[in-house]
Amino acid sequence: MCGIFGYVGHQSNAAEIVLKGLKRLEYRGYDSWGIAAVGQTGARIAVKKKAGKIGGATVDDLPKSTLAFGHTRWATHGGVTDVNAHPHLDCTGTIALIHNGIFENYEQIKKKLIVRGHHFRSETDTEVAVHLIEEYARSMMFTKAVQKAFNDMKGLNAIIVTDVKNHTLIAARNGSPLVVGFGDGENFLASDAAALLPHTKQVHFLEDDEMAIIGVNAIMLFNAKTGEHLQPKKQRLTWNVRDAEKGDYPFLMLKEIYEQPGVVSDIAANAAYVQTHAAHIKKSRGAYLVGCGTASYAAVAGEYLFSKIAKRHVNVAIGSEFGYHLDFLNRDSLIVAISQSGETMDILESVKKARQKGAKILALVNVLGSTLYREADYKLMIDAGPEKGVASTKAFIGMLAHLTLLAYAVAGKTNDGVAVLTRAVVSMKKVLSDPSVRKIKKLAKKLKKSEHIYVIGRGLSYLTALESALKIKEISYIHAEGLAAGELKHGPLALVTKGTPCIAFLPDDETYGANLAGAMEMKARGGYIIGVSHKPHEVFDYYIQVPTAGEATIMPNVVVAQLLAYYLTIERGFDPDMPRNLAKSVTVK
Ligand code: M6R
Repeated sequence: MCGIFGYVGHQSNAAEIVLKGLKRLEYRGYDSWGIAAVGQTGARIAVKKKAGKIGGATVDDLPKSTLAFGHTRWATHGGVTDVNAHPHLDCTGTIALIHNGIFENYEQIKKKLIVRGHHFRSETDTEVAVHLIEEYARSMMFTKAVQKAFNDMKGLNAIIVTDVKNHTLIAARNGSPLVVGFGDGENFLASDAAALLPHTKQVHFLEDDEMAIIGVNAIMLFNAKTGEHLQPKKQRLTWNVRDAEKGDYPFLMLKEIYEQPGVVSDIAANAAYVQTHAAHIKKSRGAYLVGCGTASYAAVAGEYLFSKIAKRHVNVAIGSEFGYHLDFLNRDSLIVAISQSGETMDILESVKKARQKGAKILALVNVLGSTLYREADYKLMIDAGPEKGVASTKAFIGMLAHLTLLAYAVAGKTNDGVAVLTRAVVSMKKVLSDPSVRKIKKLAKKLKKSEHIYVIGRGLSYLTALESALKIKEISYIHAEGLAAGELKHGPLALVTKGTPCIAFLPDDETYGANLAGAMEMKARGGYIIGVSHKPHEVFDYYIQVPTAGEATIMPNVVVAQLLAYYLTIERGFDPDMPRNLAKSVTVK
């Protein structure tokens, strides 16, 4: 959730490099930020830290230096204040530390350190770690002190530490992601590989309990528990800098929405891979699709697709609930863990629990080298390119495309799967064409003052409704609810009054008639019906056309909802890329 960026090298504007690095991490969501620059050897470490966004801030007031690191904080312990922002310093101001995660046993340790005379300035758990290192460093080498302190920390944590003597960054991780980048006479560190792209593509993803000492000319790796020396597993990042920037688009989310036809046509063009993974699914006795948030809706889509196309039952669980579904797992089970980031804690925990039962893991993941990617037995890359908007768009469409292909491959009809994806590309392009976008913009203007929006669907359109509601609420802050149309009479209809906006997904499939009945029920209570369908109908007060794409019509339908959510957000004057209270990847429980 928090962002980390560190630099050590030959350039003397380290703080500026770090500031730019933090800006590339802003999409993760944060409420305060800070940078430490180590200037002259022996002098106190200079720190600038502030509550709020970076905005137009500069680091001109920090000294010229060749080592700096910074952090974007998403508050857990202690309010959003300048003092609570990272980096934190020890009592002498010569050791600085930043931290991701939750230091679970910080209170006991803090009490002991206070008795030892340490003076605390913030309310954070993080500050305890830097004083603990200071305490240990009185009697041992600095690196050893960091190692010992890290091993004392309970919970899932990543720490980065520097001091004024050693001119290195020391990083250790357990749970929270960290990646080191290899440069030429300079080296880097970040919480997110995409932030390293302008500098290097050669990286090593730190494993749990790995510790790295990052100097100007070398990066050394150790096992943080045993001290054993390790060799880095260098990987080359496949993404480009431009893929991770918004280019001519006003917001990343809009760019990512427009990239979707390309993502799906690339997946369709490279469908040969699917056979191997389909074989894993066929071989398993009991498969679970597990995801969180939008990825959990992809999992629900998978359940419908496998049933409809492959006539095969798969189970579905959301990551945070998966721990309560373990009883039937065994060595023949397969967990399909679905995640854009590959760092969502509830997914990583699910995978861990499934492993303990002997199950195999197939990761459907977008970030190469992420923890989920590394933990999995079988890896299926979503290949949507870097997704930086907090609201997941192209990764979701990529997940749907792979699950559709997998279902067709399990049914022995891969070519039909490719054909259906090709239709989805055509249909998405139509939704993204200027006249269609104008219509959606006009609708956003109409709905911008709504307090509630209801979205209905059946079958695959049920989860289209769920995903649409999530997109609308998370960025526009309008309360939206996705419903199975058949559930209306069981309660939600009570909320529909004159003018209540109701979006109905009515694709050309077996759900059409029953879905229409749902729209009519809403209309009869005064609802304002927005029909998303292949053909108009008199019950619709507003109509958005979506050409049929068979089982893949869910994709263009979701694009309509993404655009509506985006333009509602713009109309209401909010930033779609950085919704309040949310982070791009949820790396804590
Ligand atoms: O990185 P993941 O796919 O594991 O993330 C899962 C959810 O946190 C994510 O989809 C979240 O719900 C998004 N904000 C939805 O737009």
